[in-house]
Parts: sequence; C-alpha cells; structure tokens
Amino acid sequence: MAALETIECLQREALADLDSVGTSAELEDWQHKYLGRSGRLTLFMRGIGALGAEERPAAGRRANELRRLLEVRYDEREERLNQSELASALEREALDVTLPGRRPNVGRLHPLTQTRRRITSIFAEMGFQVYNSREVESDLFNFELLNIPRHHPARDMWDTFYLSDSVVLRTHTSPGQIHVMRERCPEPIRVILPGKCYRYEQVSVRHDFQFQQVEGLAVGRGITLADLKGVLQAFTKRLYGEGREMRLRGGYFPFTEPSVEVDLDCAICEGDGCRVCKQSGWVEIAGAGMVHPAVLRNGGYDPAQYSGFAFGMAVERQAMLLHAIDDIRHFYANDLRFLRQFHGSG
Ligand code: FA5
Repeated sequence: MAALETIECLQREALADLDSVGTSAELEDWQHKYLGRSGRLTLFMRGIGALGAEERPAAGRRANELRRLLEVRYDEREERLNQSELASALEREALDVTLPGRRPNVGRLHPLTQTRRRITSIFAEMGFQVYNSREVESDLFNFELLNIPRHHPARDMWDTFYLSDSVVLRTHTSPGQIHVMRERCPEPIRVILPGKCYRYEQVSVRHDFQFQQVEGLAVGRGITLADLKGVLQAFTKRLYGEGREMRLRGGYFPFTEPSVEVDLDCAICEGDGCRVCKQSGWVEIAGAGMVHPAVLRNGGYDPAQYSGFAFGMAVERQAMLLHAIDDIRHFYANDLRFLRQFHGSG
C-alpha cells in the first residue's frame, strides 16, 4: 500500500502549502508544483500504470479524488484571493466624492468688446445699422475725400502709420462715411461703424497707438445739429444712467461744419481732478458735427437737398469711465488679474 501512503502524504503537503499561499502569484506556483504538467500529482499519476495489479485500481481512484480535491481548493482559494485583492484595491484607490470639483477656466469677453457691444446695441435700438469698414485705407479715403488735402495743416491732427505712399492704417473710422454714402446714395442713412484705428503717437494714460472708435452717420433731408445733440444725449443717458453729465464744446474737424467735441464729466475722480481728465473734471469721448458739404458731395449727395451729422466716439475712454479705470494701457497689457474683473457677457 505504499502508493496510497504516497497519495496521503501528497495531500497533506499540498493542503498545508495551500494554506500558506498569500498572493495570486504564489497560487500559480502552487498550481504548477502539484497540478502542472510536471507537477507532483501529475507525475505520480503518470506512474500508476507501472504499479502492480493489486495496487493500481485503488491508487488510480484515490489519485483522481485528490486531483478533484486540489482543483476545488484551487478554485476556492483563487476566489478568496480575488475578493481580497479587489477589497484592498478599492481601499487604496478610494475616491472622495465629497471633494469639491475643479472649476474649469471659463473665458469671457474682453472689457472693450463688452463696451463696444453695449454702445452698438444702444445705437441699434435707436435705428442705426451696423456697418463694418476696412482698417487698411487709402490716403484718398482716410484724408482727401474727408476734405483734408495732402498739404493741409489739419493732417497734423493725426499722426499716421503709412504702409506705402498712399496706403495707411486708418487713423479714424471716418473714411467709412464715404464708403457708406457711395453705397447707399441717394437713400437716407443711419449707420454706425465700429472698429480699430491706429495712430503713431505718444502713449499716455488717455492715448494708445491702437484704439477703437464707433463712428456714427445720419444723412437725410432736414437733419440738424439738434438731432445730433438729441442722439448723443439719449445715448449717454442709456449707457451711463441719469447721473452723468454730457457737454458739447465748439471744435474743429475739416469734414464737419460746425464741429463739436463731446465731453463727459469724469467718473474716475468725480470732478475732483485726476490724470485722465487732466484735472479738468471732463473727459473727451467724441468728435462730432454736421457733415461738411464737400464730404456730402464726395459721397454722392447734393448738399442743397441733404444734410447729415456724424460723430466718432472712443471705446476705450468710455470703458474707462464706465469702470473707473485710470490708465488706458491696462486694456492691451493682457494681465489676467485685470481682465478677470469684468464678468459681464457684453
Ligand atoms: C476723430 O477721430 C474724428 N474722426 C471724429 C469725428 C467723427 C469728428 C465724425 C466729426 C465727425 P479725434 O481725433 O478727436 O477725432 O478722436 C475721436 C475720439 O477718439 C477722441 O475724442 C478720443 O476720445 C478718442 N481718441 C483719439 N485718439 C485716441 C488715442 N490715441 N487713444 C484712445 N482714444 C483716442
């Protein structure tokens, strides 16, 4: 009965070994050691054929029983190991679902875009159509058709970036007036033209070398300076509320006659005097006037029958007044600490 004793011995050793298995890798080793192709039980079973006839049937039966037992124990052990490995992985990689989430960085509109959109929508409600005009202009449109001939001293009012002898970065949005008039003539006109302008000038708290204007133009029969004043007053009330004051001063532009400058009382110092208002309590936000007869003619309109008003207002200066910003250079510095303060969607 030596074969049966060997089997008993194998069983005791295999089960004892299994008890000390602690990981999946150890379990695999155990499986190889006893049940694998050169495992101890497998080798023993291969030798059964060589046993004597009286030992062989009992040894075969017992060896098969042991094989089934070891397989069942293997499965049980594997299941237990899986469970405990899962449990410890869950513990190790635990998620704290109560932690606050990370806020995505949401972009918002630049304060100048917000201001330009507010200005545009107020004029749109007053019946002004929005018209876009080019930033690169010919000398002809930027100056000559606006009644500023080449050697006219008024050219000194605008320090110009010349791209070539006769092509410039527009110094103001006024050349758009001529484009619109030529396109619409002889229809009446009520448009605004928002856009960027460029001037080769000294940067200061109020001046930058690039800035935005919103040009306004109304052409029709019987339009007067009172219409211009009424539109500008209605506009400032809508944008700034009842509390702010607007004033018109006499001014000079070659393309308007008469010409005015439009001032708002300084919201930055509330009239006490500051760098932005040059201690005067007033900030110039626009130039304006009645369209000069020569300009109407250049646009195709007969000044004997038609009249019109025009204005060119600054976007940056109005954003400064709306938000009490004391230096225009903040707008183009791209400092997120500045930009993040403007939450409006425009
Ligand atoms: C003009 O540009 C005229 N085209 C305005 C106009 C239009 C007059 C239609 C009559 C009829 P002015 O150079 O003053 O005018 O500029 C208009 C406004 O733009 C100024 O009142 C000022 O508020 C703003 N502005 C002018 N230069 C700068 C600058 N460098 N940086 C920021 N804002 C400026």
